[in-house]
Amino acid sequence: LPNSIALQSGQKIPLVGLGTWQAKSEEVKAALEEALKAGYRHIDTAFNYTNEETIGNVLKEWMDAGKIKRNDIFITTKLPHFGNRPSDVPKYLKKSLQRLQLDYVDLYLFHHPFAFLPDSSGEVPAEENGNWVLDKGTDHLAIWKALEEQVDAGKAKGIGLSNFNISQIDRIIKNSRIPPVVLQVELHAYFQQKEIRHYCKEQGITVIAYSPLGSPGAKAHFMKKYNYSPDKFPDVLGTPAVSELAFKYKKTPAQILLRHLVQSGIPVIPKSANPDRIKQNFEIFDFDLSDSEMTQLDALDQGENGRIFDFLCWKGVQDHPEYPFQKIS
Ligand code: A2P
Repeated sequence: LPNSIALQSGQKIPLVGLGTWQAKSEEVKAALEEALKAGYRHIDTAFNYTNEETIGNVLKEWMDAGKIKRNDIFITTKLPHFGNRPSDVPKYLKKSLQRLQLDYVDLYLFHHPFAFLPDSSGEVPAEENGNWVLDKGTDHLAIWKALEEQVDAGKAKGIGLSNFNISQIDRIIKNSRIPPVVLQVELHAYFQQKEIRHYCKEQGITVIAYSPLGSPGAKAHFMKKYNYSPDKFPDVLGTPAVSELAFKYKKTPAQILLRHLVQSGIPVIPKSANPDRIKQNFEIFDFDLSDSEMTQLDALDQGENGRIFDFLCWKGVQDHPEYPFQKIS
C-alpha cells in the first residue's frame, strides 16, 4: 500500500484515507470514485454513517472490473453506539459486511464508549420525546471480548477504539487478549491530543486523526441542528501561520494541516465530497515541513479548549457512566 505505516498487528494502513461522515449517500459514490482514481486506498466509514451500501457498490464495481483487489484496499467501519452490547457485535458487523459486500474489514472500531438503545428496526437509536435513550449498562470488557471473537472468526483483521479516554483504553488493554491496534479521535492543529498520543505511543497503539481540518463542514450542521454557538468551531484552515506556509510551499492550507499530522506519523481521514479537494488532500507527499515549521504548527495546540466533538448535542450523554470527556455543568 502506498504511503502507509505499519500497525502493531503487522497490518499496513495508508496515511491518507477518505473520511465519509456527513457525506450523503449520493455524494459518496462520486467521491469514492474520485478518491480511488486519485490513489486513495483507505476508506473510513461506520454503520452510523448509513453509506456502507453505496461504498460497497463502488468497491464491487472496481473489483469486478479488475481495477483493485481486496488486499489493495484498507476499509474501516464501526460498531454503532446503539449496538454497544456483546450480543450485538456479531450482528452489526455482519450487517456492515453485507452492505460493504466484503468478507472482512481491515479495522472494526468500537465507535463510542457510551451507549444508547436501538429502536425496533435496529437501524437507529430509540427516541423518547425527541431524545435518544441512554443504555447505562455498557460493559466495555464484555464488548471487547466479542470484538476479539470477530478477529478469531476472520471478520475483522484488526480491532480498535474511537472516542475513548486514557483510563478506558488502559482498562481494556489490561484485560484483553488482542490489544486495540488503533485509537481514532478528533485531532487537528487546535486540538493535538498530546497526552493521549504519548500514552498510545507507549502502548503501541496508532492514533488516527478524524476531523484533521477542524471539521469546517460540521459547523453549519451543528449550529442549525443542535443550536451550537459558532465559537465552538475554530477556523483552523484560516490560521495565518498555516496560510503563510501554504504560500511558501505553493500548497493549500488544508495540505499544510494534513502534512503536519502525517509528518508526525498520524494517519488522517479528511472528508470531502468535492473532486478537487479530494485530489488535493492526497497530494501531500511531495514536500517536507522543516523541524521549525513543525514546531510552529505544534504550538497552535489549544489543548482541551480546541475540542469540537464533546457529544453534548446528545442530550443526557454526560450521565452515562462511560462518558469519556471532562463533564461540563
Ligand atoms: P467538502 O466536502 O465540500 O470538500 P474534516 O475532515 O476535518 O471533518 O473536514 C471536512 C470538511 O472540510 C468538509 O466540510 C469538506 O467540505 C471540507 N474540506 C475537505 N477538504 C478540504 C480542503 N482541501 N480545503 C477546504 N475544505 C476542505
